[in-house]
Amino acid sequence: MTTNERERDFTHLFSETVQETMNNAGYGSWRSISDPAAVSLSFGFPFPESFPNDELVASAEAVFEAEGDVALQYTGGEYASGLSGVVADRARDRGIDCEDDEVILTNGSTHAIDVVSQTFLDPGDLVVTEAPTFMGALSLFRNYGVDIEGVEMDADGLDVDALAADLEARESEGRPLPKLLYTIPTFHNPTGVTLAEDRRKRLLELAAEYEFVVLEDDAYGELRYEGADVPSLAALDDTGLVVRVSTFSKTIAPGIRTGWIVADEELAEEMRRINAGGTNTFTQGVVGRYCEAGLLEENVVDLRESYSERCAHMLACLDEYMPAGADWSDPDGGFFVWVELPEGVDAEEMLPEAVEEGVVYLPGHLFYPDDRGHDCLRISFSHVPLDEMERGIEALAAATRTATSVESTADD
Ligand SMILES: Cc1ncc(COP(=O)(O)O)c(C=O)c1O
Repeated sequence: MTTNERERDFTHLFSETVQETMNNAGYGSWRSISDPAAVSLSFGFPFPESFPNDELVASAEAVFEAEGDVALQYTGGEYASGLSGVVADRARDRGIDCEDDEVILTNGSTHAIDVVSQTFLDPGDLVVTEAPTFMGALSLFRNYGVDIEGVEMDADGLDVDALAADLEARESEGRPLPKLLYTIPTFHNPTGVTLAEDRRKRLLELAAEYEFVVLEDDAYGELRYEGADVPSLAALDDTGLVVRVSTFSKTIAPGIRTGWIVADEELAEEMRRINAGGTNTFTQGVVGRYCEAGLLEENVVDLRESYSERCAHMLACLDEYMPAGADWSDPDGGFFVWVELPEGVDAEEMLPEAVEEGVVYLPGHLFYPDDRGHDCLRISFSHVPLDEMERGIEALAAATRTATSVESTADD
């Protein structure tokens, strides 16, 4: 039964946070503007052929065969309990000093960010993010009633000098200092850029000096197509202030909803205690078996090859079709390209024209905690086939040209 049929307004029953966030435009406007005929470059969905269906079926069968009904019990079986060890081993391979009990398995990395938020955040606390940042994290932080401040980025990631200046000003003016800084340092969503190593070190110095938690979201770190690896923040950290979250969503499939937190033992203990409701132990068993059979490493090699081709194709199409005055990022990995439109063009206002031309994207302002990013947009090369991608970029270029000419006529 709908609210209208009951003629009842539930608003006063909602929590203050829900009342404050329910009309937030973050997830609204762009949803209504789409068209089945338009190429969707909006979302970071993996392409369906990348899903290892047969291998997951075989892993599930092997789990049932080895563990029987235990696999479906609350606790899960040995493959499920072995998955923390697999994650810890892989973290150690990447230079992260981590014991098996410093890994907490979660139902994906968004859930992991939620557990970290529950552990550290009170209403009114300050959270610093990159500006722009992953909009899923922004809406999640808003659920905690915190203040969010976005620090600018450039082609080398978060502007740590701007962060340092902000922290210094806050301290000297007696304004609140951050409790937590959320960052996606490697193949950032939405810009695709990677935080330079010297900036990583500086960020950790600032965290130690001002004592805030650094929440490192490394959803895309394994999907590098160009250049040399940069050590993760967790690998560079010797303060224990870095809490790292990651996921199998991009390296196996998002529907398995399996991710993890790596945190210092003392923090991990509280997070484990606070994480109510349990996690998906059956899937953890299947993933555990999949990893132990060496299939994850093989899949990551294949994924790097196919996403690398997709990324190169998107960049080539942008070079070929986009008009002068537009600029875009040059990612070495991940799923996204960030486009800056010619001066005066607003990505949200341009969307209906883009749909008409045959493409959908996400307007940049959705990725900001404040009113910035109107001249930017995010496109993803992870989902659509190469020929559709090309049509999508041609349509984006056509819409940009129209919007630019409207803008310059308005200026005349
Ligand atoms: C930076 C970042 N973190 C987390 C997620 C979500 O991951 P999960 O599916 O594990 O919740 C995404 C997915 O879009 C992402 O881009």
